[in-house]
Amino acid sequence: MLSDARLYSACAAALLYAVGCVYFLWAAPRRQGASTRQANANSSLLIAYASQTGYAEQLARQTAQSLQAAGVLAHVQSLGHLDRADLSHIPQALFIVSTTGEGDAPDTASSFVHQMSSNEQPFAGLKYAVLALGDRSYANFCGFGRQLDNWLRHQGASALFDAVQVDNGDPAALRHWQHQLGTLTNRPDLPDWEAPRYDRWRLASRTQLNHGSAGDPCFHIELEPAGHVPSWTAGDILEVDPHNSTWEHPETPLPHREYSIASLREDGALHLLIREMRREDGSLGLGSGWLTRAPIGIEVAARTRINSNFHPPAEDRPLILIGNGTGIAGLRALLKARSAAGRRRNWLIFGERNRAHDAFYSKDIEDWQRQHILERTDLAFSRDQDQKRYVQHVLLENAERVREWVEQGAAIYVCGSLKGMAPAVHEALERILGRELLESLTSQGRYRRDVY
Ligand SMILES: Cc1cc2nc3c(=O)[nH]c(=O)nc-3n(C[C@H](O)[C@H](O)[C@H](O)COP(=O)(O)OP(=O)(O)OC[C@H]3O[C@@H](n4cnc5c(N)ncnc54)[C@H](O)[C@@H]3O)c2cc1C
Ligand SMILES: Cc1cc2nc3c(=O)[nH]c(=O)nc-3n(C[C@H](O)[C@H](O)[C@H](O)COP(=O)(O)O)c2cc1C
Repeated sequence: MLSDARLYSACAAALLYAVGCVYFLWAAPRRQGASTRQANANSSLLIAYASQTGYAEQLARQTAQSLQAAGVLAHVQSLGHLDRADLSHIPQALFIVSTTGEGDAPDTASSFVHQMSSNEQPFAGLKYAVLALGDRSYANFCGFGRQLDNWLRHQGASALFDAVQVDNGDPAALRHWQHQLGTLTNRPDLPDWEAPRYDRWRLASRTQLNHGSAGDPCFHIELEPAGHVPSWTAGDILEVDPHNSTWEHPETPLPHREYSIASLREDGALHLLIREMRREDGSLGLGSGWLTRAPIGIEVAARTRINSNFHPPAEDRPLILIGNGTGIAGLRALLKARSAAGRRRNWLIFGERNRAHDAFYSKDIEDWQRQHILERTDLAFSRDQDQKRYVQHVLLENAERVREWVEQGAAIYVCGSLKGMAPAVHEALERILGRELLESLTSQGRYRRDVY
């Protein structure tokens, strides 16, 4: 028989062993998690993008493909989903970011930009490069890309090479970026990026929607596929090649013009709403002038571009759609998608000048109201009364209801003018919801803008 003392020590040893086993089983997955994370951080290069209308995201994916072709594992992530702490244990990162508004960061990066005001965690180990997308016709060329580059340097990160600034998709700048990728991966023979090919479309019909308007003429345009039919989602953009316009045949490629797509693929045609633009000297805008005058039946080279920032919410949540002018184009595609998905909690707030001339797509709006796809509709015609009334006034008049919808989980989508409408709507939403909540909606993807 065992003595009491030996019995106690045997029991204690068994207990210790059991506790040890439990600890080992508990800790193993955590050790594995940490080491996997470390391995990922060491072996996989981060490509972080910030995109307002989809181009930076497209280039981030192209960059990842090039790196993969060179045998380098890369993962693509939205800057808005990154924490600054994430950067402190990543050895290498490429940042592909556009600038929007007047030198601003894309909306999707707002939570990261917030963290850029604190300096608490220098990234001495981080090596990085920036591809900054912009357009020289704006005062603050590549503003956000340059801001991010400066900030990273001040945080102690070291640049792999100078930031590459891209003016309006300039192919030479993009070739330079690819060259740098080749040098970085020791693979100067990396295949060149192919510019996405334009598809062939036929200009099937054109109808002016605002006869007698105080504004410039706006046309509903239908393009039918004349070859491959690309797929697209509501919120996506059409890039039109103005190169084959009847009055301009330059030697070098012209930058494309972008238009919000106003229909779904199931409609059998791609719809646009285009306003004829005139330059300061009175001449017609290249893209809009061509598409609003070209003979019906001619071929149009154009390609769809994914704009995931403006896709309809995947989850079943209410939607507040706010827009003015040609901004109704993007909202129309969204409402068509909501209708197809049976999502009925939609509130449209749309503004134009006069109901008699500028009530774009009124037949569609009436149909959606009748079919209970639109739970609420507020149209603000600014010149139909003595006092100007715009979409931001509708929001302020309905502040309580806006708060209710947001409490019920609504997302807010804004499409149309960057000048005038978008900042005024932003200010109204800030007054109604408070700055903090609006910022939180932005980082949750519940406040999205496609403004130009
Ligand atoms: C994401 C996005 C979505 C859009 N969606 C729509 C839409 O749904 N519907 C719509 O109508 N538009 C839309 N636009 C605007 C559209 O892309 C074009 O900017 C617009 O049609 C004008 O292009 P254009 O080629 O006709 O004019 P351009 O020839 O490019 O001229 C446009 C303006 O640029 C200036 N400009 C350019 N070149 C010169 C020059 N040589 N001399 C003097 N001034 C010059 C002038 O201010 C002129 O008014 C969208 C833009 C973006 C970014
Ligand atoms: C409404 C709007 C505002 C813009 N503001 C700027 C700007 O201030 N500075 C700049 O360099 N480019 C500006 N651009 C150009 C964009 O940065 C450029 O088109 C870029 O390729 C867009 O990339 P994205 O689709 O990833 O957002 C602006 C473009 C739009 C449509």
